Amino acid sequence: MNLVIFSEDLLDDILKIERESFIDTWNIEMFLGSAQNKTVIFKVLLKNKIALGYYILSTVVDEAEIISIAVSPKFRRQNLGKFMMADILKEVLQKKSKFIFLEARKSNTPALNLYKSFGFKEIGLRKNYYKDEDAVVLRLDN
Ligand SMILES: CC(C)(COP(=O)(O)OP(=O)(O)OC[C@H]1O[C@@H](n2cnc3c(N)ncnc32)[C@H](O)[C@@H]1OP(=O)(O)O)[C@@H](O)C(=O)NCCC(=O)NCCS
Repeated sequence: MNLVIFSEDLLDDILKIERESFIDTWNIEMFLGSAQNKTVIFKVLLKNKIALGYYILSTVVDEAEIISIAVSPKFRRQNLGKFMMADILKEVLQKKSKFIFLEARKSNTPALNLYKSFGFKEIGLRKNYYKDEDAVVLRLDN
């Protein structure tokens, strides 16, 4: 198992995981735009050349933001989310970011538990951030 920088040959796998993971899904252009953005780290978790998950991290000046993280449903609860989070923290340390932010749906217990297990703290709510739900804002101080 290894994490590689996104390349276009992985796009179909990524779009499948995206559709299986989110209600408001990203389209091809959004993924390709992220991949081209110099302030973004877009990595894909591969096993036997098949994508099992991915994360998208933005680092601007001293702030980092986890834009997205997802694991293919069949491979959840096998510590792959933790594996990617550990890599995110390593990248953030290298970039010398002081804070890492993210937003998650209030009802997204798996994600909230994952982030909290890495020390993220809830710092606020964004009302109706998603069309149908509030977002919890979490932050980890480096
Ligand atoms: C959130 C997500 C990435 C976690 O990936 P995962 O590989 O299943 O997570 P892990 O196996 O590494 O689990 C890490 C921790 O997360 C928490 N967790 C994961 N799934 C959980 C669940 N179904 N219920 C409660 N807690 C859960 C637990 O604290 C777990 O630690 P533990 O196994 O020691 O109890 C995955 O559920 C996912 O892709 N969800 C859909 C996309 C999404 O919501 N992304 C986050 C957007 S903010």
